[in-house]
Amino acid sequence: MKKKVLVTSALPYVNNIPHLGNLIGSTLSADVFARHKRLQGCDVLYVCGADEHGTTTEIKAREEGITPQELCDKYGALHKNVYDWFGISLDVWGRTHTDTHARIVQEIFSELDSNGYILEQEVEQLYDEKAQQFLADRFVEGDCPHCGASGARGDQCDACQQLIIATQLVQPISKLTDTTPVIKKTTHLFLDLPALTPVVEQWLSPRVHTWSASAEAITKQWMQELKPRAITRDLSWGVDVPGMPGKVFYVWFDAPIGYISITAHAREDWKEWWHNPEVELVQFMGKDNVVFHSVIFPATLLGTGTHWNTVDTIAATDFLNLERGKFSKSRKTGVFAEDCIRYEKQLPADVWRYYLLSVRPESADSTFSFADFQAKTNNELIANLANLVHRTTHFAHTKLATQKGALTPTQEAFIAQTRRAYAHIHELLDAHHLREALKETMKVAKHANAHFQHQEPWKTVATDPERAAADIRALLTIVQDLSLLVQPFIPHTAQRIQELLGVDGLTYENLAGAYDKPFSELATPQPLFTKLDDDLRAQLEEEFLPKTHPLDLRVARITNAKNHPNADKLLVLTLEVGKESRQLVAGLKEHYTTEELVGKHIIIVYNLQPVKLRGELSQGMLLASEDESGTVGLLLADAPSGTQLCVGETQAQTEAVTFDEFLTHTITSSAEGVYIDETPLHGATITVDKHAFGRVR
Ligand code: 2FM
Ligand code: ZN
Repeated sequence: MKKKVLVTSALPYVNNIPHLGNLIGSTLSADVFARHKRLQGCDVLYVCGADEHGTTTEIKAREEGITPQELCDKYGALHKNVYDWFGISLDVWGRTHTDTHARIVQEIFSELDSNGYILEQEVEQLYDEKAQQFLADRFVEGDCPHCGASGARGDQCDACQQLIIATQLVQPISKLTDTTPVIKKTTHLFLDLPALTPVVEQWLSPRVHTWSASAEAITKQWMQELKPRAITRDLSWGVDVPGMPGKVFYVWFDAPIGYISITAHAREDWKEWWHNPEVELVQFMGKDNVVFHSVIFPATLLGTGTHWNTVDTIAATDFLNLERGKFSKSRKTGVFAEDCIRYEKQLPADVWRYYLLSVRPESADSTFSFADFQAKTNNELIANLANLVHRTTHFAHTKLATQKGALTPTQEAFIAQTRRAYAHIHELLDAHHLREALKETMKVAKHANAHFQHQEPWKTVATDPERAAADIRALLTIVQDLSLLVQPFIPHTAQRIQELLGVDGLTYENLAGAYDKPFSELATPQPLFTKLDDDLRAQLEEEFLPKTHPLDLRVARITNAKNHPNADKLLVLTLEVGKESRQLVAGLKEHYTTEELVGKHIIIVYNLQPVKLRGELSQGMLLASEDESGTVGLLLADAPSGTQLCVGETQAQTEAVTFDEFLTHTITSSAEGVYIDETPLHGATITVDKHAFGRVR
């Protein structure tokens, strides 16, 4: 019996078209693993689909003037198109807004309820009297209770990343009617995670240590204290909660059940995959999704008392950042899957796949940089792998068509020695160390290239053509092996190599024996890729990197400091900047008294766009540094107020920068000085108050 392996990747929110960070975290990683397991001879089912519920779907549908269903149809198709283009080998692609899904979600819920794991609690919630509706988190906006930023949602503040309880928003506004909501009591259902804790703990203990480091850490952190978790929302789009009209299940309750329902919707044999203890379940995702898969979803399934297959392995990635900032749809920075398709002539899917897998954030966050993309494409994919394939097939095709190329023990020994690396590569893939496995695979190509160089067939072809042919047959054997070894990573290229060699349908079992076709049958070789040249790189950088304006930093003297009238943590400062007077709001109250501040010469971002923070105008932002212990110290400048500081050689300009743009710069302080994006800041003697060396904000 073939081993059954069920592979899933996090169900993407339907209306977010994935960027390359999403891709590497979920679908691309899952695809590599699924392909590897198929080549190993396992019976693999790779399942994914669109996560269609949740407030974002309803909000986006309103914005586009269509129904949520229409929105899901439209974006679901876009997703599938993108995954097909990247060669993601899904066995099942589905969606969560189906009858099958609703039925299975409700069944699981009733089992949890009969087993006593559902609590009912009265909570206070914002209510829109005009729309006569309770407001789910994202249907309300206001000022953040933590940092004062405007436009914070009812669940989270984008400016300070802190979680928010909607009723604590300052000056809340309903997104449905633009009116001010009132606070009203309502009833919600909660999953009783405290009661499920022992069951989950027992379930976790044999497996958690086998997961990726971040998955293990996040899970252990959560297990320290589980609280009841709300599983209902006041919405109409979603899975209805039996007996509670106007309420649907919270999207994070229903979405993971989607893995099951999507399989059930597509396949009659679905129970063979979800109720069968023989199946190994491996789930791929970014680290932000871990807790839902490692604690909450397993708790949900365990609480039913029915045997469901629960996850054996969580393979989570850290975040892929963009050089100069982050991938962001709203800021239009970073590369989105659809952008890759636009560049397909110059950069086919495998070029992106190769690069993404070679920087896969496996043990820490990693960075996508275009210089690195260019270097890895040209120096590794092309100069190493494609070069090997081209020079061996081309040589055989043009110089050896009449030769047999029978292997002698010398070439057999080279093949055997090269193949010693394969077992380790497969172990790495089995353990989801995909980046490392790719690196080791490329070493095989490097080794074969060195062998080509060493054997000098271009010379021996004149003096000893049989030996040249034998060497080339040995090298073609390794090329054939490589067509299998690279297949999980760059399947389109693997296919082209096999076409060149005139072979197909190979599996790992073919990683033994030699390449056995006559040289005369080789196809005319074509180069596999074209170089990523400097012009193309410049074009990509221009299109996808955030535009950054230099920061104009100036010395300012604090002439007055007082408490902010509407915020606990903020101070309002009056500043003298040369001849100009400015007001600035700063979150310093926990770190300085107003008396301490007056008279200090600080550094401000002079060209930051003015904003109102909780009703007070803030013209600029001051620089303060925070050390590892959380001590905050101002950056102080020994220069008259109004002095303009320089970054590197260039004089700062004065075009306004937004707060988001400011965040794309990395500023650090140490005893040696202050560095902006690794360039020193000068123009005055700068010290860090309280020696709080660290990150500056
Ligand atoms: O973060 C996301 O895109 C979620 N839609 C992932 C859901 S994974 C699973 F639970 F469905
Ligand atoms: Zn905030």
